[in-house]
Amino acid sequence: MTTAPHVRAPWSIRRRLVLGVVALVAVVGVLIGTVSVFALRQNLLQRLDSQVEEVMRFVTTGPGGSQLPGGADNLRSGLVVAYAFEGSDPVGYVYTGPGSRTALTSEQISQVLAASRGSVTTVQISGLGSYRVQVREGTTVQGVAGAAAVGMSMSEVDTTTWTLVGIFALVTAGALLLAAAGAVALTRVALRPLGRVTETATRVTELQLASGDVAIPERVPASEADPRTEVGQVGAAINRMLGHVENALVARQQSEEKVRRFVADASHELRTPLASIRGYAELTRRSDEELPVDAIRSLDRIESESIRMTALVEDLLELARLDEGQGLVFGEVELVRLVTDAVGDAYVAAPDHEWEVVAPEPPLAVEGDAARLHQVVVNLLANAHRHTPEGTAVTVTLAAEGDEVVLTVADDGPGIDPELQPRLFERFARGDVSRTRTTDVAGRSTSGSTGLGLAIVAAVVEAHHGTIGVESEPGDTRFTVRLPRRRNASDEAGDLAD
Ligand SMILES: Nc1ncnc2c1ncn2[C@@H]1O[C@H](COP(=O)(O)OP(=O)(O)OP(=O)(O)O)[C@@H](O)[C@H]1O
Ligand SMILES: [Mg+2]
Repeated sequence: MTTAPHVRAPWSIRRRLVLGVVALVAVVGVLIGTVSVFALRQNLLQRLDSQVEEVMRFVTTGPGGSQLPGGADNLRSGLVVAYAFEGSDPVGYVYTGPGSRTALTSEQISQVLAASRGSVTTVQISGLGSYRVQVREGTTVQGVAGAAAVGMSMSEVDTTTWTLVGIFALVTAGALLLAAAGAVALTRVALRPLGRVTETATRVTELQLASGDVAIPERVPASEADPRTEVGQVGAAINRMLGHVENALVARQQSEEKVRRFVADASHELRTPLASIRGYAELTRRSDEELPVDAIRSLDRIESESIRMTALVEDLLELARLDEGQGLVFGEVELVRLVTDAVGDAYVAAPDHEWEVVAPEPPLAVEGDAARLHQVVVNLLANAHRHTPEGTAVTVTLAAEGDEVVLTVADDGPGIDPELQPRLFERFARGDVSRTRTTDVAGRSTSGSTGLGLAIVAAVVEAHHGTIGVESEPGDTRFTVRLPRRRNASDEAGDLAD
């Protein structure tokens, strides 16, 4: 079994800087402390050693020479002296004050005398502690061989050393606290401009740039966009980027706007000539003169095609208006009535299908544009009729779910081509044209489909801030429209401004 590697959260710059400074101060503090304490201790030991050597020079050797010469008594308390001569027991004393001394035990004496000859060394004397001791061997004037030892306590050196260690530890701890506080304050001040840059970037992400006004009013403030500082370089780069993005968005919006205007204008201009074509065809067909059968068939085609084209042009115009977000007339729309009527019309126009409505008791109202919502239902019903064979059962369901109203149009027809489904709500997306009928439940005597019906449905639903989805498999095709029951306050404010 493999376990996912544990990814440690990265450290922030602030944390890294503070910890880095603190670690640096700690290392420097410990280094300075160690070197100083070591040097001082060496110095103190050297002084102690030279005192030991000096006392050694005073010491007289020989059997009667257990007494140190005058002045040596006063040297210091803690001085240790010991002798060992052939033929007599070793003796030793520790001086406890001027002129007063205590005899050492034989164990202590042998510890002192066991020290290596020559240079001064450290010896542990039981009951007395650490001593610097020097031992010298020789022969007395009387010709007796023996050894003399002089030792001095290291307790003062140790005390001084530990005091210094304590002082350094305290000073280092204080310096650490100071460094930590200083680093926190400094990084806070240094990173504050970065925070302001982030705030600007965050505000830009909250702008609605997909539609409507695409201007980006946000810029990193000039104080944070000075390229002479590191943060300023980031700020300046962000400002340049925002400028580029804004220009690109404006250019895109303008070209979209042009295309939209062109489609709207073209559709509008086509209406009149289309009406004329249709009118003249009708006029000619109804004239008293006997027309050849071919001519009558041609006139029929001209008429039906001009009707189809008129419908197409109307659809294009409708989409252009919805794109511009204009022309919606909001009011209270009672959906149960609207849906029941639309299905009733479908039943009359297409009795070859089975129509059913499942709806609660009225009223079930939403805030919306009644004519557009009617169009949504009619387009969905028209599809369920037009793209399914006779005998197909169509069920329209209406229900309230929280703040939404859910409308589903389901049929048990052959389903929608899976390849078409991802583009279903795009303009001119349509399936196999051969299956198409020449009339639909909307009463439009159209031959062939345009693929604009669901694009209009989606645009209307979007204008109502609703959603539309489709699930389709052979035997079960289901369009689900969700509409909020109330528009939010900002929309209404927008409407008033229009
Ligand atoms: N209920 C349905 N069952 C099967 N196919 C459907 C159904 N509804 C839509 N379709 C498929 O989706 C395509 C797109 O539908 P849409 O309503 O956008 O266009 P259309 O019906 O072809 O033309 P029109 O613009 O006249 O409505 C249709 O051509 C059809 O292939
Ligand atoms: Mg359609």
